[in-house]
Amino acid sequence: MTVEVSAWETTGMHRATVDLLACPNCRGQLALATAVVATTPPGVVGEGILACAGCGRTFPITDGIARFVEPDGLVGMNRGFARFYDAICRVYDPFVTAGFAFLGGEKAVREDAVSRLAPRGRVIEVSIGTGGNLPYLFARPEVAEVHGLDVSAGQLERCRRRCVQQGWPVDLTLGLAEALPYRDASFDAVLHLGGINFFSDRAAALREMARIARPGARIVVIDETEAVASGYRRFSRLLPGFTDLFAGPAGEAIVPPVDLLPPGMEDVGVESIWRDHGWCLSFRVPGPA
Ligand SMILES: C[S@@+](CC[C@H](N)C(=O)[O-])C[C@H]1O[C@@H](n2cnc3c(N)ncnc32)[C@H](O)[C@@H]1O
Ligand SMILES: [Zn+2]
Repeated sequence: MTVEVSAWETTGMHRATVDLLACPNCRGQLALATAVVATTPPGVVGEGILACAGCGRTFPITDGIARFVEPDGLVGMNRGFARFYDAICRVYDPFVTAGFAFLGGEKAVREDAVSRLAPRGRVIEVSIGTGGNLPYLFARPEVAEVHGLDVSAGQLERCRRRCVQQGWPVDLTLGLAEALPYRDASFDAVLHLGGINFFSDRAAALREMARIARPGARIVVIDETEAVASGYRRFSRLLPGFTDLFAGPAGEAIVPPVDLLPPGMEDVGVESIWRDHGWCLSFRVPGPA
């Protein structure tokens, strides 16, 4: 059942994006079972239910965001990080701006990340957070569409508000980097900045980024080095409820996860960035660039 309304207050999810989505459980095709769709902006879904043709699961779209995880359904580090980022989402932006000030300024840091990606066509940021990279993605005329996923509903809500204020038509999903709710070969460029160092399963996240990228697409993954990560470890020990959050895999030191890339990736490069406070892993899915 589809209800048409004359206007939707958000930039919402474009109806055409449903064709890009896949069930994170079985990769089955999703269809809009029920929806409230706006005529202004045209074809934008505000509320709805996505149903999987494979396993029969349903996933809600609320406030224009398709939701593939339930906070109570998350386990381990994913649950911890969703709770952590939900708790700090209101102070996340100023915190990051202050952190990046030591690395040449937020604008320079984010512009550098986006230029390493050289984005074009349909772009996704995995772990988009509050959308700090969006101004630099939308500044690129080669970028046609922007999508974003994050595990924190709080971060996504801030991102959605930013998009509404700026009029940016970004389609957002609440989900896990380790089980992306998108069909194979859907994106022309994939960006990830911050987060993967402490993911539950870094190899799965890299595999998923490669899976959803089209042949020839470029993928850029950036995070901090051990020098910064060890600071987070010390800091989080002081936070009640989050003391082990940044412990990392069995207490190992952070290294760029080049060994965890899926086989066959091309143009693999690892660089030290942010005056050795960050690393950048870039690669391309085989196929014509
Ligand atoms: C340091 S923030 C980076 C946000 C954004 N990329 C930026 O540049 O500001 C890390 C983000 O990763 C998200 N995150 C953590 N674990 C995740 C997971 N398993 N899947 C998807 N996102 C995750 C957090 O919710 C958070 O928004
Ligand atoms: Zn399914």
